[in-house]
Amino acid sequence: MQDLAGKVAFITGGASGMGLAMAHSFSAAGMKVVIADIEQQALDAALAELGQRNTEVIGLKVDVTRRDAMEDAAQETEEKFGKVHVVCNNAGVAVGGPVDTMSYKDWDWVMGVNLDGVINGIQTFTPRMKAHGEGGHFVNTASMAGHLGIASLSVYNTSKFAVVGMSESIRQDLAPHNIGVSVLCPGVVRTKIFESGRNRPQDLTGDRDTASLVLQSGTTGDPSQVQALLATALDASVVGDMVLHAILTNEFYIFSHPEFQSAVEARASEISASFERWRAYCQTHISNQE
Ligand SMILES: NC(=O)c1ccc[n+]([C@@H]2O[C@H](COP(=O)([O-])OP(=O)(O)OC[C@H]3O[C@@H](n4cnc5c(N)ncnc54)[C@H](O)[C@@H]3O)[C@@H](O)[C@H]2O)c1
Repeated sequence: MQDLAGKVAFITGGASGMGLAMAHSFSAAGMKVVIADIEQQALDAALAELGQRNTEVIGLKVDVTRRDAMEDAAQETEEKFGKVHVVCNNAGVAVGGPVDTMSYKDWDWVMGVNLDGVINGIQTFTPRMKAHGEGGHFVNTASMAGHLGIASLSVYNTSKFAVVGMSESIRQDLAPHNIGVSVLCPGVVRTKIFESGRNRPQDLTGDRDTASLVLQSGTTGDPSQVQALLATALDASVVGDMVLHAILTNEFYIFSHPEFQSAVEARASEISASFERWRAYCQTHISNQE
């Protein structure tokens, strides 16, 4: 998409972290911005912060797991600002720990926000973007955990691989309608993701201390390790600007952490080597193969 000034962006999880950074970057580019988030206090703080720059911004309290709430939010956005051109399906949460410690509530909560939330954004806004015919762009927030399986992140990994796969598919469906798609795949970014439990609904809360669940992940270790990890993590504002650049240039993958390239290539090499072994197997075991 070009000429973003005056266009409308809808950002889920927009009250904090990378979503809020996108709101800043889009506002600076002259867009009208809707931040949709489940956390009222964070919404109020974000609106106060963004409003100081005199930008056209509104906040909507929305739970992305609820289809009716997303529909209501889309209607409210259109009433206030008109046609929606950019949708960032960004709201996300995380739990960590070995797979045998995960409960159905862990699976339901994380898949509900990280995958159903993205599905609901696509379902709600695709017909609207097609109908106004002015073109548009979806940005779906996945993660490097959408490309690499990581120990103790089974639930999160599952949700993020799904978002990458969905994005690879819909980019093809939507291109003929002049609707671009990007999938955001960051490594560690300094946000409140490690405190995801703050937004966990009561009915999906298990017996454990959910606020610190992600801290139990084998990759992150104890809280002091998390603090050290966050101290050197990428600033969210950098990611906000990258997302804006990706929309303007219609760049599909957004890889904010180049240091993960070798790990992704190693995974591709393992897959390639496995193909070769199965090719050899087929040649010796299946009669009509070359
Ligand atoms: N921070 C990282 O290191 C990192 C790395 C890769 C991917 N991500 C992904 O980035 C996205 C943004 O997370 P962040 O890191 O900025 O964390 P964050 O916690 O700062 O922001 C997430 C936002 O999502 C909102 N949210 C949670 N549940 C919601 C719901 N049901 N409905 C609406 N909003 C809801 C929260 O209130 C919060 O404002 C997530 O999808 C996350 O999985 C984060």
